[in-house]
Amino acid sequence: MSIQWFPGHMNVTKKAILERIKDIDVVIELLDARLPGSSANPMLAEITGSRPKLKVLNKQDLADTERTEAWLAWYRAQADTQALGLDASDKAPAQRLIKACRELAPNRGGMAKPLRVLICGIPNVGKSTLLNTLVGKKAAKTGDEAGITRIEQRINLANDFYLFDTPGMLWPKITVEQSGYLLAASGAVGRNAYDEEEVALELAKRLQGPYAAQLAARFRLDDVAAIPTLHDDVLLADIGRKRGAVVSGGRVNMQKAAEILLNDFRSGVLGRITLETPAEFEQWWAAGEALEAERQAKKLARQAKRKGRAATELLDHADDGDDELAD
Ligand code: G4P
Repeated sequence: MSIQWFPGHMNVTKKAILERIKDIDVVIELLDARLPGSSANPMLAEITGSRPKLKVLNKQDLADTERTEAWLAWYRAQADTQALGLDASDKAPAQRLIKACRELAPNRGGMAKPLRVLICGIPNVGKSTLLNTLVGKKAAKTGDEAGITRIEQRINLANDFYLFDTPGMLWPKITVEQSGYLLAASGAVGRNAYDEEEVALELAKRLQGPYAAQLAARFRLDDVAAIPTLHDDVLLADIGRKRGAVVSGGRVNMQKAAEILLNDFRSGVLGRITLETPAEFEQWWAAGEALEAERQAKKLARQAKRKGRAATELLDHADDGDDELAD
């Protein structure tokens, strides 16, 4: 695993969410539409259990429209789950959020039973931007969302609709290796946690199949048809060369090439891209689970072996004692 990511305070956040969740009717999870599965924190699913969920695929302006539809359908097929796409160009998102949450908790509403919603998301997913839009001057000016007020960590989106911000920081939790690379590529993971060249090579691999035409257009690569067949480091070197990341002797500066590819992906200039499909993510997840099960089984076997050895030593010791007594 080459993403060295050990976020602190995860347990503090977990405790704080567990405390808050008791009085929550619906959980909104903001996801990055370019990597919906990987930008979810699996811990949140554990904590929120069977509560109704609204998955918001945020930054949809950067994501592949067709893949966003596939992800929305995938989430909507899950029990007690709604899903919608969103991005910062929507200056009045409150009504869509309110409508979806009300559908998820039809028994709540009215002053006696206000709908209480918790909004969560890993860093960089666009939560602050969305919350600012929900309470911001622009939103109030349009008139659509007038009356929205913010009380500490609570935003009243309507008289009977309270939106609570996550208490604490919900860091990404990397349980699947591929997700680690995608999170790093998206900018959700701190720069010191990974090697940019390695992440850019993984990104090149993810892009070369479905987004060969976009790579060719952006970097003026000549043979589009060949892009999917190129080795990742050949592709990254081609990108570097085309963008002048060349050092003396004509060698490509791969670090510079990596930065170029990562920046172009993050800023959206490469075009609308989604790095994973539901089927791919399911596959990675299942492989991750199988690996974890194997790890646990090995651990249990080691423990059993240690216990067995200790029991044998104890018996030997007891035998020695008997022998001494007999002597
Ligand atoms: P966070 O609170 O979840 O950590 O995320 P935040 O709102 O700070 O957003 C992280 C970055 O994503 C910001 O860019 C923000 O502008 C951008 N962003 C948020 N929502 C959207 C969206 O729907 N579409 C696109 N394309 N970008 C979005 P930044 O470069 O880090 O900062 P800034 O200088 O642009 O604000």
